[in-house]
Amino acid sequence: MLFSSTNRDTTRLQSIIRITRAISTVNDLHTLITLLASETSKVLNVERSTVFLYNRKTDELWSYVAEGESNEIRFSADQGIAGSVFQTTKTIILNNVSDDERFNKDIDDTTGFVTRNMITAPIINPSGHCIGVFQVINKEGGNFRDDDAEFLQIVASEAAVTIENVRLLESRKRMFDSLIKALVISIEARDPLTAGHSFDVTFLAGKIAEYLKLDKDTSEAIYYAALLHDYGKIAVPDSILKKPGKLSTEEFSILRKHVQHTRIILSPIEFEERLEQVPVFASQHHERIDGEGYPDGLKGDEISIGGKIIAVADVFEALTAKRHYREPFTLNKTLNILIEGIDTQFDRDAVLALRQYFIDIGKIKPEEVPLEQDKNVL
Ligand SMILES: [Fe+2]
Repeated sequence: MLFSSTNRDTTRLQSIIRITRAISTVNDLHTLITLLASETSKVLNVERSTVFLYNRKTDELWSYVAEGESNEIRFSADQGIAGSVFQTTKTIILNNVSDDERFNKDIDDTTGFVTRNMITAPIINPSGHCIGVFQVINKEGGNFRDDDAEFLQIVASEAAVTIENVRLLESRKRMFDSLIKALVISIEARDPLTAGHSFDVTFLAGKIAEYLKLDKDTSEAIYYAALLHDYGKIAVPDSILKKPGKLSTEEFSILRKHVQHTRIILSPIEFEERLEQVPVFASQHHERIDGEGYPDGLKGDEISIGGKIIAVADVFEALTAKRHYREPFTLNKTLNILIEGIDTQFDRDAVLALRQYFIDIGKIKPEEVPLEQDKNVL
């Protein structure tokens, strides 16, 4: 008996180490909690593990993961067993849920799940605040024991640190993202006709990045660069930006300077290391593969992957949108213009990726956008 309990302790200690190691490498909340729940279910031999986190705004507990349950469960933070554990920060072991009047049957009624027994442990952060509860339900082949509860408490407190860190990172990211979007909206508000351009370019650039299977960091840098690519237009006067007719040579050279302004404005921003190419990507969206673009006349692979992709997305969006001086082009005509510009104005892979995207979503047939037009094929 002593031997088997020592054995079990060793296995559980190993599990705690494994879970702690695994969760420390994760940096998004959903993956983190999914991993935590599935590992805990395995070790404790239970049917379901659920992590409920406290939402201060609504004063509710929200299920982040209820294995096998696709619907989110949420309820008032003082309701049921979970609410009671959250309020008192004391773990509850219930081997027969019908014995406890605090048990909230409504959730089982909604989800169709039948709860027999459960342990609910508080998730307490290092500063002593309860941030949620960890619940394991239906032990296979018997009752929960005290050492099951001890295990759950240890895992919950290990998880608390990582949950807090990941939440902080995610909230910083949301803040950064919303700030960037606010900047973009403020510049686009100057001209209602082109409003939404940067968001549409961002969407298309994202699709191209996805089709080219770029890594997560590069794709994210492209996302921010696409949002901000025309930000330098803030330094271009309205009289030029909104002029309905043709621009004079001098006006055109002022308009072209928006890319330098984009670079100057974005360069001092302290992007995190994996996003440090954002100012480069953003300010290269008018470069051309043949070196005839601006501001630096870069050629071929001297242009960054982000610059090449945003260039294609930008021209696509501009041609398919209404402008002060012309009506929108059709999808067919626009894609054919892009194909025509492969290896001169545009990067081949980026154009082909966009073409393929529109074929895949059924907006165009391959024969309407043939590649034979590309004089450099073969
Ligand atoms: Fe531009």
